[in-house]
Amino acid sequence: MNLVLFGPPGSGKGTQAERLRDDMKLRHLSTGDLLRDAVARETELGKKVKHVLASGQLVSDDIVLALMRDAIVAVGGDGDLKGWLLDGFPRTIGQAQGLDGLLAELGQKIDAVVVLDVDRDAVVDRLSGRRTCTQCKTVWHVKNNPPAVEGVCDRCGGTLVQRDDDKPETIAARLDVYEKQTRPILEHYRGSVTLHEVDGAMPVDKVTRAIERVLS
Ligand code: AP5
Repeated sequence: MNLVLFGPPGSGKGTQAERLRDDMKLRHLSTGDLLRDAVARETELGKKVKHVLASGQLVSDDIVLALMRDAIVAVGGDGDLKGWLLDGFPRTIGQAQGLDGLLAELGQKIDAVVVLDVDRDAVVDRLSGRRTCTQCKTVWHVKNNPPAVEGVCDRCGGTLVQRDDDKPETIAARLDVYEKQTRPILEHYRGSVTLHEVDGAMPVDKVTRAIERVLS
């Protein structure tokens, strides 16, 4: 099954993707994770996009499409996987059209788009309290999903840090970008791909169960 997890920054795409990928045997492909990894490794791509991520604006369609082309093609070579789960991509109409072209070329399709609905105040609260493990990348929240020991990952003992783009002014910019450039993509898919709207404001477990229900 090939899925797109869609929703504003902080709606829980990454949190839900981590839970769904193992159960459903899907490769979790997050453009944000791939870009942050390039920044952390100081690759040529990382140097090029570092300031874009820090500003909350979008990296160019060309760069993102090239990254995702390689990632989606690589999933086909892994016989243990049953498909992919896109998180944070596509994010512009140009990316959605580019993805359509790539999938046609590969003989693949999107089986469903799951849209996580969460209001703006809630996502601001979630993003300002988010902490991410520097080692295993598990996502925590200081209030909603805290680790047993503050600043330490329960899963691997790694150090938890705040993302550079989770500062108040950058959060506002990211939410504006979502409304202007990303939300309109839903109209691109309406009528051609099954869209499932899920209330992302519920507790994490309930959201997971709701997603599993709509996909079953
Ligand atoms: P990206 O990494 O994709 O960030 P995002 O879409 O802004 O989404 P987030 O990762 O912030 O949130 P999420 O929905 O995954 O929520 P999470 O599960 O972490 O992109 C970052 C940047 O990279 C972009 O701004 C852009 O510059 C660039 N980029 C990426 N993709 C691009 C593309 N396609 N094109 C161009 N540029 C691109 O949860 C958030 C917090 O809430 C956590 O603390 C979590 O514990 C908590 N939480 C989660 N679920 C719940 C719940 N149900 N109840 C309570 N708390 C919850």
